[in-house]
Amino acid sequence: MKKKLLSAVLSVAVVASLLVGCGSDAGTTSSEGASAGGTKVGVSMPTKDLQRWNQDGSNMEAELKAAGYEVDLQYASNDVQTQVSQIENMISSGADVLVIAAIEGSSLGEALDMAKDANIPVIAYDRLLMNSDAVSYYATFDNYMVGTVQGQYVVDTLDLDNAAGPFNLEITAGDPGDNNAGYFFNGAYDVLKPYIESGKLNVVSGQQTFDECATPTWATEVSQKRAEDILSSYYSDGTNVDVWLCSNDSTALGVENALAANYNGNYPIITGQDCDIENTKNMIAGKQSMSVFKDTRTLASQVVKMVGQILKGEEVDVNDTTTYDNGTGVIPSYLCQPVFADVNNYKELLIDSGYYTEDQLK
Ligand code: BGC
Repeated sequence: MKKKLLSAVLSVAVVASLLVGCGSDAGTTSSEGASAGGTKVGVSMPTKDLQRWNQDGSNMEAELKAAGYEVDLQYASNDVQTQVSQIENMISSGADVLVIAAIEGSSLGEALDMAKDANIPVIAYDRLLMNSDAVSYYATFDNYMVGTVQGQYVVDTLDLDNAAGPFNLEITAGDPGDNNAGYFFNGAYDVLKPYIESGKLNVVSGQQTFDECATPTWATEVSQKRAEDILSSYYSDGTNVDVWLCSNDSTALGVENALAANYNGNYPIITGQDCDIENTKNMIAGKQSMSVFKDTRTLASQVVKMVGQILKGEEVDVNDTTTYDNGTGVIPSYLCQPVFADVNNYKELLIDSGYYTEDQLK
């Protein structure tokens, strides 16, 4: 079965459909039905600590089961060695395809080598698996676009092309071990750079490279601590921070906690990503300005579709064959489209679509 699978994977022509966003039919996989019986999909998720991965995992499990696959879903508690062992166990217990959202994109080498030796196709989920030629496909959201949506929001909200400024800006970026983090940062920074260079935006702390702004493991406490340090060093004299650009919601939450405890100035514009429940509540309460909604249901559906196409030796739907080089070459990718969210459209995006119930946001 595995040998046949590999040749099927190698023989599929990549469909560079150049569609933007996930197709509306992403949920109707061609693998649905009896033919999926006896086929096992290993799904490795980084952690249960952050809300989105629980949703990603359970959406995928439900969709894969509905398509008739057996599912081995594991969460690795943000511990790389645990993730390696879990993937190795999936391989030895007969997984036919692996779907992996890595804790650290470059640290799963041994497990990926084992998958390759066993001819098991690997789909990198949301985060690219780096420096391994075991990776067949990548499915994610357009990560650079997430950053440009955040940056453009700042430009528009402050009316940077017309307002006199200058405005004070601080930046909180993501985990250096996550390949996505650089895309988010660069997408936003590329939009804001002209205004930083012209002096209309002033980074008071001076911390504006990715490394200076990074948040290892995306942890809320880590971003909170850094924000507290910045506030006490640069803003305790009454200086206002006008914008705090945060790459995602878990880091934005840390900044929001720090502001609540250590800041008396005008409340800044704060960006985020994911529409986590706590952050959506904060948007409703005026403590976070926006987020970027990445509907994990669409990504899960797209991946289930990919799994079916791989297993059946069909053409695999991708829409980007240039952006994501993992160090061994470009990995054919499917990029779903992220969507701007704020207090004005959250109901439609999150409640009307059934992503959350109204009660969850109370
Ligand atoms: C994901 C983001 C998420 C972050 C922290 C990134 O890889 O793309 O959606 O906020 O990890 O979990």
